Amino acid sequence: MPNKLEFLNFVNMATFRYRWRAFKAIVLMLLVTVLMVSVFQRGLVSSRGDIQFERDSRMQKEVINYWKENQDKLAETKEEPVYERDIARTWDITSTNCSTNTNISTTESFNTLEQSFQQFLLYRHCRYFPMIMNHPEKCSEDVHLLIAVKSIITQHDRRDVIRKTWGKEQVIGGKKIKLLFLLGSSTNEAEKANHQKLLEYEDYIYGDILQWDFMDTFFNLTLKETNFLKWFSIYCGNVRYIFKGDDDVFVSVTNILEYLESSKNTKDLFAGDVLFKAIPIRNKENKYHIPLVLYNKTNYPPYAGGGGFLMDGPLAQRLYLTSETLELFPIDDVFLGMCLEVLQVTPIKHNAFKTFGLLKDKKSKLNKEPCFYKSMIVVHKLLPPELLEMWRLVHTDLGCALKSGLLGDLKNEKL
Ligand SMILES: *[C@@H]1O[C@H](CO)[C@@H](O)[C@H](O)[C@H]1NC(C)=O
Ligand SMILES: *[C@@H]1O[C@H](CO)[C@@H](O)[C@H](O)[C@H]1NC(C)=O
Ligand SMILES: *[C@@H]1O[C@H](CO)[C@@H](O)[C@H](O)[C@H]1NC(C)=O
Ligand SMILES: *[C@@H]1O[C@H](CO)[C@@H](O)[C@H](O)[C@H]1NC(C)=O
Repeated sequence: MPNKLEFLNFVNMATFRYRWRAFKAIVLMLLVTVLMVSVFQRGLVSSRGDIQFERDSRMQKEVINYWKENQDKLAETKEEPVYERDIARTWDITSTNCSTNTNISTTESFNTLEQSFQQFLLYRHCRYFPMIMNHPEKCSEDVHLLIAVKSIITQHDRRDVIRKTWGKEQVIGGKKIKLLFLLGSSTNEAEKANHQKLLEYEDYIYGDILQWDFMDTFFNLTLKETNFLKWFSIYCGNVRYIFKGDDDVFVSVTNILEYLESSKNTKDLFAGDVLFKAIPIRNKENKYHIPLVLYNKTNYPPYAGGGGFLMDGPLAQRLYLTSETLELFPIDDVFLGMCLEVLQVTPIKHNAFKTFGLLKDKKSKLNKEPCFYKSMIVVHKLLPPELLEMWRLVHTDLGCALKSGLLGDLKNEKL
């Protein structure tokens, strides 16, 4: 006869076994449910994506498979490398230790280059710089849209107008919008003496300035890009989307939010005023010209004009890691196009981004037509007084019933 204790043990074991079996059954059911739900959702995503795709411009449809259509390039480009690397938790660059690359200055082609390109090449290997002003707290909450504006020290008035208009930090329909300006350090002593203190005061009031310790020159704009991407990857895991642009553009945040809502199922979102087969400019008179030594292919990869474009947060982090595998290129937006090429992500061309100028005809009425601006996402280029005035007009009751008619007109004018 088993004694009482043994009997109780037996009962315990039995209930335990029973519970274990029940537990296993429940776990199994849960797994199956999760699997079914995710399969179902995938179906939804792709079908919704298709609808979105149908609705978007013809342009986009033609080019959505850019990398697949260009099979030769696809073959050339290796698969995206796998990055098994931890991203730092704080800005880990504390000293400027950037000496000239003396190897390069001895090459023959170097001596034929203009001074600006020589300077670029001498410091091309220096990628990251210490921060003079940082705001690690900027993305501490869930941010829907981070607006990052390239600016230089002396443009106090442009920053001021942006803060009052499209860059205003606010919450729209529960979605947080944050603003940051990206700056380097001044290029001359007078500026350093007079404007740096002002800038620090400006930052003390608004808390929206990131400043790195590299010279804020045209060819260093790529540094602004790479340092921002690294900064973003460190501090902004909670940010859903980024709008990055110039400080002399008109932007409609309402239209951005609407566009993002309609594209919420798009993976690797990167949208802007995209050029697909831009030909490098070789004419030395042009600000954007590039000598063959720096780039010898016939076309640039697809890229979005740096005046204003949208990308999603996770893609920005992958762009950061990718950027480290490439040599820096002096034109910042082309450089991002090169990174997208490595990732085989085709940027989306959207007609509401006008970063390469509006209309060829500068006198066209549309250049000053508020109803036109109201339908755009970004328009280049407006200086502070014009921006303020256009902002005011766009936000009065315009009655843009003619909106579609206007856009019809626009099609007839050459863009
Ligand atoms: C700067 O770099 C050189 C060589 O790369 C190294 O010898 C030196 O210790 C570095 N200095 C600082 C302050 O990091
Ligand atoms: C210069 O060349 C040497 C030897 O080839 C190399 O080790 C060094 O990294 C080069 N310096 C730079 C700044 O690229
Ligand atoms: C970029 O900034 C670095 C650091 O200030 C500077 O040494 C370099 O000359 C700059 N490059 C160009 C092309 O202006
Ligand atoms: C083009 O440039 C690449 C890298 O700079 C070089 O390897 C290649 O030989 C160049 N091609 C021609 C045709 O000059």
